[in-house]
Amino acid sequence: MCGIVGYIGYRDAYPIVIKGLHRLEYRGYDSAGVALIDKDIKVYKKAGKVSDLEEFVKGVNLHGTIGMGHTRWATHGAPSDRNSHPHSSGDRRLTIIHNGIIENYAVIKEALLAKGHVFLSDTDTEVLIHLVEDIQKETGLDIREAVRVALNKVIGAYAIVIMSSDEPDQLIAARKGSPLVIGVGEGEYFVASDATPIVEYTKNVIYLNDNEIAYIRRDDLLIKNIDNTVQTPYIHELDLKLEMLEKGGYDHFMLKEIYEQPRSIRDCMRGRIYPKIGKVQLGGIKEYTDKLKNVDRILIVACGTSWHAGLVGEYLIEEYARVPVEVEYASEFRYRNPIITERDLVIAISQSGETADTMAAIELAKEKGATIFGVCNVVGASIPRITHAGVYTHAGPEIGVASTKAFTAQVTVLTLIAFYIAQQRGTITQSKLIELLTQLNEIPELVEKALQSNDHVKEIAAKFKDSRNCLFLGRGSSFPVALEGALKLKEISYIHAEGYPAAEMKHGPIALIDEEMPVVFIATKHSSYEKVISNIQEVKARGGKVIAIVTEGDTDVKAMADYVIEIPQTDEAFVPLLATIPLQLISYHIAVMRGCNVDQPRNLAKSVTVE
Ligand code: M6R
Repeated sequence: MCGIVGYIGYRDAYPIVIKGLHRLEYRGYDSAGVALIDKDIKVYKKAGKVSDLEEFVKGVNLHGTIGMGHTRWATHGAPSDRNSHPHSSGDRRLTIIHNGIIENYAVIKEALLAKGHVFLSDTDTEVLIHLVEDIQKETGLDIREAVRVALNKVIGAYAIVIMSSDEPDQLIAARKGSPLVIGVGEGEYFVASDATPIVEYTKNVIYLNDNEIAYIRRDDLLIKNIDNTVQTPYIHELDLKLEMLEKGGYDHFMLKEIYEQPRSIRDCMRGRIYPKIGKVQLGGIKEYTDKLKNVDRILIVACGTSWHAGLVGEYLIEEYARVPVEVEYASEFRYRNPIITERDLVIAISQSGETADTMAAIELAKEKGATIFGVCNVVGASIPRITHAGVYTHAGPEIGVASTKAFTAQVTVLTLIAFYIAQQRGTITQSKLIELLTQLNEIPELVEKALQSNDHVKEIAAKFKDSRNCLFLGRGSSFPVALEGALKLKEISYIHAEGYPAAEMKHGPIALIDEEMPVVFIATKHSSYEKVISNIQEVKARGGKVIAIVTEGDTDVKAMADYVIEIPQTDEAFVPLLATIPLQLISYHIAVMRGCNVDQPRNLAKSVTVE
C-alpha cells in the first residue's frame, strides 16, 4: 500500500532515501515525504509523486546520515500535503512513517484530544505518534519502551519507522501485518517495505516478523518481540539483481515485464518438470503428498489478476487431477461463513504475498483446520510465512502495477500443481503426462513467438484507442483470460471493459453491441471453437467490431473477424499462457496512445495491504 524506507549509517541519507522511494513508488504514489536528523528532525512532504517531492526540496540543505521516507496510497485522509507522511508528535520530538491501518485510532484519538493533543492531519498514523508522546509524558519511559507500550495498545496492521530527537542516533522499526525488511551493511542499516531499495547496498537482509520491534543504531541491531523478549534474527541472502529493478531500455516496466515472460515462465518450470520421464516435482509441497492423494476439495482464494489465474487453475485441476475446485474472491470469502473442513486444501495466490484480503482468508481457513498452500512471487513476503507449504512463481520483481508476468507465472505454477496432484492420484497416464510436459516445456519459445505480433497488435490498438467500451469473450479456460484482458484494459487505459464467457453474451451483454463496440474473442482451435465462431457471427450480425485471437494458420475466423492476431498452436491446457500475451500488448499500446501512466495507473497500488 505505502512504501517506507529508512537509513542509518555513515553516508548522506537523503539520496538513499529518495532513490528508495522511487523504487517503492509502485506501492503508492499520491504523496511522499522525508525526515532527516541533523541535531533535530527536519520533515519535508508533499502531495504528488516522489519527483514532486524532489522538486519541492530543491535548494534545501538536506544533511544527515539518518533519514527516512514514505510514499503513500491514501487510506485515512485524502492525498494532501498535511496528510502526507512523516507525521510528528505535538512537541515535534518524534516522527513516524507508517504503512498499514490503525483500526482503533478513533478511540485513541478521542482520548488524546481530551488530554489536549492537537492533530494536524486526518491520519491514523499521527494518532500513533501522539500516543507514543503521551506515554512518554505520563510514564517517563524512554522512546524504546514507549513505542513498545504504544504498539501493545493499537489494533491493526503496521510497518513503522520512528525517529526521536532525544536519541538522534537511532531508528526504531516495527511490523505487524505489513512487510518490513532490514538491510544489514557494515556500519549501516537500511529499512524498507521490500528489498528493492536495499539490494544496491547489501545482499544481507532480515525479514522482520510480526510483532517484532527493531532498535537500530549504526553499529548495533536489537530485535525484540512486542512482549519484550529478545529475538535472534536470521540473515537471508537476497537473490535479487539490480538490473531486475530497472527498465533496461524499455519505455515502461509493464512492457519490459511483458517481454520477460519467456524467461519468467522458464524460470518457473526450472527443476520442476521432467518431460522425458513424465514427472513433476514440487519440493515446496512434497511433504503433503498424502494430503493431496486424499483431498476432498480445493478452494482457491485470491484477488484481481491472481483470482483470474485461480480460475484457470480450476479448469486444469478439475480436468487432470479430478478434484472439485472452488475459486473465491478472498475479500468475500471471510464474510460469508464459508464451510471449510480439515480435509480441504486452500491455495492462496498472490504476487505480492501481502494482499490483506488474501491474508485474512488464509487465517480464517487455517482456524477451520484446512491445509493452506501459497502461490506467491515475492520471496519472504507475509503469505509464504503464514501458509503450511507453497510454490514460488519465480517471476522476478514485478514493478508495473498491472500484473503481467506474475499472471503467466501463476498459471504456470497452477498447471504444475494440477499435473502434480494428478500424478499423485493416478488420474493421468504417464504417456499423457509426457506429452503434456513436452509441450509445456516449449511454451517459453511459443510465448516469444507470440510476442512477435507486437507491431501488428499496435496497429490494431491504434484503431480502438478512442473506444469507450470493450468486451472480451472466451470459453473454457479462455474465459478467465478474457477477464484478465478486460482488467488490463480498464486499469491502465481507463476504458470500460468487461470479460464474459462467450456463450453468456446472448443472455444480456449482446444488447451493448453496436458499431462502436470492439469485441475481443479468444477463438483458438480447441474444444469450443465452433461454438465461439457462432458467437462471433452473433456479434458481426449486430455490427460489432471483432478482434480475434486465433491459432496460427486459422482461416475460418479470419474470414469473419475484422482483425485477427495469431498465436502458436499448443494443447488446450496451455492456451491461457499464449492468448494472454496479445491482450497484454493491446492494453499496453492503447494506454500509451491515450497518454496514460502505464506503470502507475490512477488510484491503484501494487499491493493492497488494507481490506
Ligand atoms: O499481490 P496480489 O497478487 O495478491 O494482488 C492482487 C491484486 O491486487 C492484483 O492482482 C491486481 O488486480 C493487479 N495489479 C491487476 O493487474
